[in-house]
Amino acid sequence: MAQTAKRTHNITLIPGDGIGPEVSGAVVEILEAAGAATGVSFEWHRYDAGADAFEKTREYIPKALIESIEQNKVGLKGPVGTPIGGGFASINVQLRKKFELFANFRPVKNLPGLKTNYPNVDLVIVRENTEDLYAGLEVIVVPGVVQSLKIITEKASTRIAKFAFEYARKHGRQKIHAIHKANIMKLSDGLFLDCCRKVGANFPDITYAEHIVDNTCMQLVMNPYQYDILLTENLYGDILSDLCSAFVGGLGLVPGANLGTECAIFEAVHGSAPDIAGKNIANPTALLQSAVLMLHHINETETAERVQAGLEQVYREGKTLTRDVGGNAGTREFAQAVLQAIEAPVAVTS
Ligand code: NAI
Repeated sequence: MAQTAKRTHNITLIPGDGIGPEVSGAVVEILEAAGAATGVSFEWHRYDAGADAFEKTREYIPKALIESIEQNKVGLKGPVGTPIGGGFASINVQLRKKFELFANFRPVKNLPGLKTNYPNVDLVIVRENTEDLYAGLEVIVVPGVVQSLKIITEKASTRIAKFAFEYARKHGRQKIHAIHKANIMKLSDGLFLDCCRKVGANFPDITYAEHIVDNTCMQLVMNPYQYDILLTENLYGDILSDLCSAFVGGLGLVPGANLGTECAIFEAVHGSAPDIAGKNIANPTALLQSAVLMLHHINETETAERVQAGLEQVYREGKTLTRDVGGNAGTREFAQAVLQAIEAPVAVTS
């Protein structure tokens, strides 16, 4: 039976666009149900961002949204589309910079019962989130020549390396690979590596190695099991995240957290998937697992475990899965199955 709510959390919710409203709708419903069963309630402060927000408020990131995150310190965000080759700057990148969400944390782990070509993958991508080519500093030098500045700083590189090593030590991870292209970008990626090495020297219990990014792609496809934590600059981490998502069933599955010292925004690795938007076929698992990371972040461990257990039960049963992972259930049907699993959990026998 549902308990009386004991704790309320104020969360800023950005449903996003494309498949965002569908997947975030499913996630909110599931969190409410798990919260009701564990004595937790949520106050959702909803805001649009990007093109939808601009239509209503003439602001791509409304001031009220910024204030809400400043106040709540925690956000759950659906994907927001970014125009290609022009238009407004990425909302995602702007939010990460604005709140100094310097660490993009992306765990890649198979779900039980879901067969992929790579069983038992369990690695983490730790991606620097505030600089690199994402600084958006581009100029037309002369017609036909464009310059795009890649910014790498000692401060940000050291900060992300510390985050990765501290995370590894705290969570019993053994090995960190810094990913780079310092053979070509000798100064920028060279600085990133210097910082990683210096930080790594203080963590003799963690094995530290370096791989060049193109080789890393091949190594990952051949044998992802050799990796534990991939420590990357912004762009390499972005690309490798999508590659790694394929190990566990694709972009519909991999969660993420943008973490800073003051605030945190939780969002899936995937984008707004305009090709499948509005069709009730998107997989809400990636955002749901992002919400599980959020629940751990706000110390609601029991609710987090309840959601994760319900999700895993649905995958273990394999009867109500979305089409990206070989099923034929819609977003809503999948969410209903997770809700049922949360309400009537089945004990796992191994
Ligand atoms: P995408 O991640 O939206 O889609 C890539 C492929 O994965 C598509 O075939 C899509 O149908 C599939 N897919 C993605 N999420 C899925 C889900 N939950 N369930 C089932 N299938 C799923 O990448 P794309 O097409 O490159 O980008 C679309 C838009 O999203 C762009 O405007 C891009 O800027 C934006 N974007 C936003 C992000 C964010 O808000 N954090 C992250 C990445 C992209």
